[in-house]
Parts: sequence; C-alpha cells; structure tokens
Amino acid sequence: MQQQNPSSNRTKWFTKARFGMFIHWGLYAGAARNEWIMHIEHIPTEEYERRYFKHFNPDLYDPEVWAKAAADAGMQYFVITTKHHEGFCLWDTKQTDYKAPNTLAKRDLLRPMVDAFRSHGLHVGFYYSLLDWHHPMNFVDNRIGPYRAIGDEKIAEMNKGREQAVYAKYMREQVTELLTQYGPVDILWFDFSYPDREHPENFALGKGRLAWESEKLLETVRSLAPYVILDDRLDLPGTGDVVTPEQYTPPRVVKDRDGKPVVWEACQTFSGSWGYHRDEYSWRPAGEIIRTLIDCVSKDGNLLLNVGPTARGEFDARAMDRLRDIGKWMRYHSDSIYGCGAAPEAFIPPSGCAYTYNAETKRLYLHILSWPYKCIYAKNLAGKIEYMRFLHDHSEICTGLCDFQKAQTTPDEVAIVLPSVPPAVEVPVIEIFLK
Ligand code: GLC
Repeated sequence: MQQQNPSSNRTKWFTKARFGMFIHWGLYAGAARNEWIMHIEHIPTEEYERRYFKHFNPDLYDPEVWAKAAADAGMQYFVITTKHHEGFCLWDTKQTDYKAPNTLAKRDLLRPMVDAFRSHGLHVGFYYSLLDWHHPMNFVDNRIGPYRAIGDEKIAEMNKGREQAVYAKYMREQVTELLTQYGPVDILWFDFSYPDREHPENFALGKGRLAWESEKLLETVRSLAPYVILDDRLDLPGTGDVVTPEQYTPPRVVKDRDGKPVVWEACQTFSGSWGYHRDEYSWRPAGEIIRTLIDCVSKDGNLLLNVGPTARGEFDARAMDRLRDIGKWMRYHSDSIYGCGAAPEAFIPPSGCAYTYNAETKRLYLHILSWPYKCIYAKNLAGKIEYMRFLHDHSEICTGLCDFQKAQTTPDEVAIVLPSVPPAVEVPVIEIFLK
C-alpha cells in the first residue's frame, strides 16, 4: 500500500497549501491557563472532571464563524484536537463517556466543525493525543501528567491492574471512528512519544511505539485511509509524511540524512499556550506571523498557526484581529505563498529580503522585509527578468542603473528601482516573471 501510494502523492496538495490553522479546544479552555494544566497543577482526574467537564458549556460555539475566519486569513486546511492529553473527546465516540455529548454542550462538537470548514474549501485534519491522562488503563506516569512526581510507590500502586494494551486498542478503535465517520480525513496528527525511558513492562517512565502499539496503529490508519497525511510522532522513524518542528522555524530547507529535502510543517502559537490562555500577554503581532509564513515557505515548509478558542466557543478578539490582518495581506499576496517554495539556490536574496518561488509558473517573489532607499541590488538576475510588478496592485517595477551604480555593481547584478515611499502593506512583494 505504501508503494502504491507514496508519501509524495499524499502530500501534493499539502505542499501547495502552505498555510493551515491548528485549533486546540477542550475542557482546558475553561481553566484558561494552558492545555497542560492537569500536569502543571497536579490536578487529579476526578477533580478535573468536577471543575471542567461538569461546567463545560460552549453556548456561543458557531463553527461557521471559525471556518470563515480561517478561510479569510488564507488558510487552506485545519487541524483540530479531537482529543488532547486530558483525554476528553470532542466527538460522539462509542469508546468512552468522557465526551462532548455528555457535557452541557449535549452534542458532537466535531461534526459541525468538519462540515463548516469543508464548506469553506479547507482540508480536514485531526489531531489525536497518544497521551491520555484520563483513561483508566493507560499507565499513570512518573514524568508527565497529573500524578508525576508523587513517588515511585504510589505510582506503582496506581498502575496495578492497568493494562497498556487495552488502552492501545482503545486508540485504534477511536482512530477507526475518526477515519470512517467524518468523510475523508486529509491529515492525522498524532501527539506524541517520549520513548527514551520506555520499558515493555512498565510504562510509567516513558511511552513510545511499545506503549502505543504504534505499528498496529499505523496499520489501522493505512488500511482505512491510504491517502491521509501522517505526522512523525508515533516513534516509528521513516513512516511519517511530515516533519513537525514545534514553536520555531528551521534555519534552512529541511533535509534528510541523504540530503533530500523533506516535507515539513512548523506548528506555532500566537502567544505560547496552545489552549486558550486568558492572562497571557505575549501575543505576536500579525506582521510577525506574516513574516514567519514567508520564512517557512522560503525554506520549503508549511505554517500551522494555532488558535485556542474560549470555553464559550469563540475565537477571542486578540485572535480575530490578527487573523483579519493576516487575511488583509493574504488577499493581495497569496500568489507568493500558495504553490511556492524555496527559490533555486542561484537566487541569493538581497539583504533584508526573502524569496519564494513557484516552479510551475517560473515566477520569483521578492519579499521586502525592510524597505531600502530607492533600489534593491539583486544578484544573478541580469538578463533573466521578463517582467516585474508589485503583487498588491500589479503596478510595474523597472530596473535601472546610473553611471555610478554601474561602476559599483557586478555584471550579474540588477538594480530594482523602488518608490521612495513603501506601499501600505505589511510586507511588499515584487513578482518577477523569469525568462
Ligand atoms: C506539544 C504539547 C501540546 C501541543 C502540541 C502541538 O506536544 O504537548 O500541548 O498540542 O505540542 O504540537
């Protein structure tokens, strides 16, 4: 099956799409201080249920608004946490009662979301947490989760009677539901493995391919959805379609050991937390996100930008404002993002600029990150330019050199002439049609 449908087939649409929305939504939105709150504050399962499961009531939830916000921001796919580490499920799973229909929401919250995003033309991605701090058969953990650091004896006591294999089967059953009941799922995003101290008879210190039975899980996935794009966190090196750098942008085009470029997607937050965090004030401005998106595409990668909706079911104003501003830029500049990747190496970006390149249309996109006075000197472009224009208004851009410039530049260099006042867009882009 792998051979019939190689990874490069699966990711064809994905490497063109370049920009997606991550959504972290679960009971932790009610705590409103990080999705790891159970771990951070050592909150036992019963206490967590009492506070957040019992009171969860997303009365303003309207996935149509979310989908529109994502589409207007220029995002082409979304990935939703169907279940995060807390173990709570957004859909009407048959495998547990710890699910949205049993909260005051009284319904499957996933289905209308999938419908709304699909109707706006976005591809559908499901995040599924391998970690589960609620399931009674998953080994309680000494390192991660609500009972971390309570002492080896207590942990051993709690783990008596737990059967990791039962939890592994539960995951396969849930993933089967997700892959068969919501139409074609385009991305499956497992999170995560920490196998360094995994032991086959005691999973209290580490969990990876043995605890999750990753091979069987992968078989389940591939037999049901040969086309689904898989991330790389199952602890099965070589089986993922996408490498997933988290909370940073790689320094250059990402390559494997043999020096071949790999498909990658950086996942990043606006402010640090993935789940809704009321009191976090480290929000990145929209312009910074736009520059990050350009940076990713210029290195052949995607950006999966996260939103953490509130417990009432809304994107808050901080997220909405930024999405709107990103959308303003994307409306004029998506040609330099969609279908683009790293430019051929000969095109060395001029200082303060970044290139992206569309190999199909042979257009080079010069992103001007810092506006210089009157001209940009670009290497290796002499004799190669057919036509140039700004993207935002399709106004022509010309080259030109005065005598002094001629004497100072190398023959392969061109001077791209700019207006002295930058256009009123966050990052101006020049579209260069190559001969
Ligand atoms: C980490 C965190 C998690 C988040 C994920 C997104 O693995 O555990 O909270 O969902 O990164 O990549």
